[in-house]
Amino acid sequence: MEKFSFLLIYLFDFQKFSENKLIFALEFILARRLFRFVNFAMIYFDNNATTQIAPEVIRAMQPFLTEFYGNPSSAYSFGREVRNAIETSREQVADLLGASDAAEIVFTSGGTESDNWAIFGTLEANPSKKHIVTTRVEHEAVRCVCEKLERNNFEITWLDVDEKGFLDTEELKNSLRKDTAIVSVMLANNETGILFPVAEIAEIVKEHSAALFHVDGVNAVGKIPVDLERTQIDLFSVSGHKFHAPKGIGALYIKNGVSLPSIKIGGGQENGRRAGTEAAHQIVGLGAAADLVKDFSAMERVAALKDKLENEILDKIPNSHLNGTNDPNFRLPNTAYISFENLNGEVILAKLNDAGVCVSTGSACNSKTHTASAVLQAMNIPYSQAMGAIRFSLARFNTETEVNFLLEILPKIIEDLKKMSL
Ligand SMILES: Cc1ncc(COP(=O)(O)O)c(C=O)c1O
Repeated sequence: MEKFSFLLIYLFDFQKFSENKLIFALEFILARRLFRFVNFAMIYFDNNATTQIAPEVIRAMQPFLTEFYGNPSSAYSFGREVRNAIETSREQVADLLGASDAAEIVFTSGGTESDNWAIFGTLEANPSKKHIVTTRVEHEAVRCVCEKLERNNFEITWLDVDEKGFLDTEELKNSLRKDTAIVSVMLANNETGILFPVAEIAEIVKEHSAALFHVDGVNAVGKIPVDLERTQIDLFSVSGHKFHAPKGIGALYIKNGVSLPSIKIGGGQENGRRAGTEAAHQIVGLGAAADLVKDFSAMERVAALKDKLENEILDKIPNSHLNGTNDPNFRLPNTAYISFENLNGEVILAKLNDAGVCVSTGSACNSKTHTASAVLQAMNIPYSQAMGAIRFSLARFNTETEVNFLLEILPKIIEDLKKMSL
C-alpha cells in the first residue's frame, strides 16, 4: 500500500514535466511502463554504501566496452587511443583531488585495495618500524588490516573519539613515536559523516615524526572539495562507486617522492606500481565521474534535502537523536545518522524496505554482524540509541518528492514500532 502511495506521489510529480495534456498523458503511460519494467518504486537513501552510475559516466564508458578494445600497452594507434583515454582519466581524477601531478594517481580496484596497499606497502618499505596510529572509527578496510597486524606483533595506537565522533589531535600528537611507520585516518566517516581535520593532522604528523600519513578519503571524495597539493598527506584512497562511477575501480594517490612498493608485479603497468592490463572502461568511468562531481553544485541541493529530512525527523519524531554534530563545517553534506531510542534499527530498516525505501543501519559491511555499530560504540552512544540507528545518505539523484514520502511514512512506522515494543 505504502509502495503504491509512493508511486502516486512520484507520478504526480510528472505533472511538472509538461503542461500540455496530450504530452502529459504520453509521459504518464511511459512512466507507468517504466515503473513496472524496472521496479522504479524504490527510493535510494543509502548513497554512502554505493551510488547509481551517472548516465554521463555510462556514455563515456560505452565505447571502451565496444569499439575501443585495444590493449593500452600496444604500440599501434588502436592501443594508443585507449592509453590516451586512461591518461585523460588520470588527469580528471588528479584534478578532482587537487593533486599537483597526474602521475601521483594510481588506479586500483577500489577503496579496500587502496587502503590495504597504503598500510601494507608502507610497512614493507619500512621493515624496522612496528608502530601504527589509527582511530577506533575507521572503515573495516583499515580497521581489519590493523587488527591483523596487531595479532602479528605490530603495535597499534587506537585513537578514541568523543561522543560527537571527534578526534583529539593532542592525543594523536602524543601517540607519535620514532618507530611509527604510518598514521591512517579517514577524512569523512562513512556512518556519521564526521570530518577529521586531515590537513592539520598531516602537519602534526610531519612535524613530530617520520611516519607516512594515509587518509581514507573514500566517503568524502565527490561530496566535499579536496585539495591534496596544499597538504602534507602522503597517501589518499579513493573509490569510484561512491561518486557515480562503477564498482571495482578506485585510486590511490601517492605523493611524489613517497616510495611505496608495487602492489602487483608483472607487466609494469601503472608506472610499475600495479601490474596487469588496465580496466580501461572502468578507468574512463572513474574519470568521467570525477569530471561530473568536481563543481559540487549538486551537493548544495543534496545538503538542502538532507537538512529538510533531518530537521523534520528530529522535529516530528519524539526521542530521535542525531549522531555526530549538526555543525555543517564538520560533517558531510549528504549524511544524517539518526537514532530512534529503544527501537531496533534492523526492524526499522525492514519496514522502510517494505515501503520501497533503502537505508542502512550503519556501514553496509556491518550489516551481517547484528551488533551496534563499532563507530557508535566508540562514541559511547548508549546501547538504547546505538541499536536504533539509521543512516540516511543522499546523492544527486534524490528528489524532494522522495524526501517528502519518507517524512510521510517514517513517523507512522516509528509510532507503530513503539506501540509494539510497549
Ligand atoms: C570510508 C570507507 N573506506 C573504504 C571503503 C571500501 O571501499 P570499496 O567498497 O571501494 O572497497 C568504504 C566503503 O564503504 C568506506 O566507506
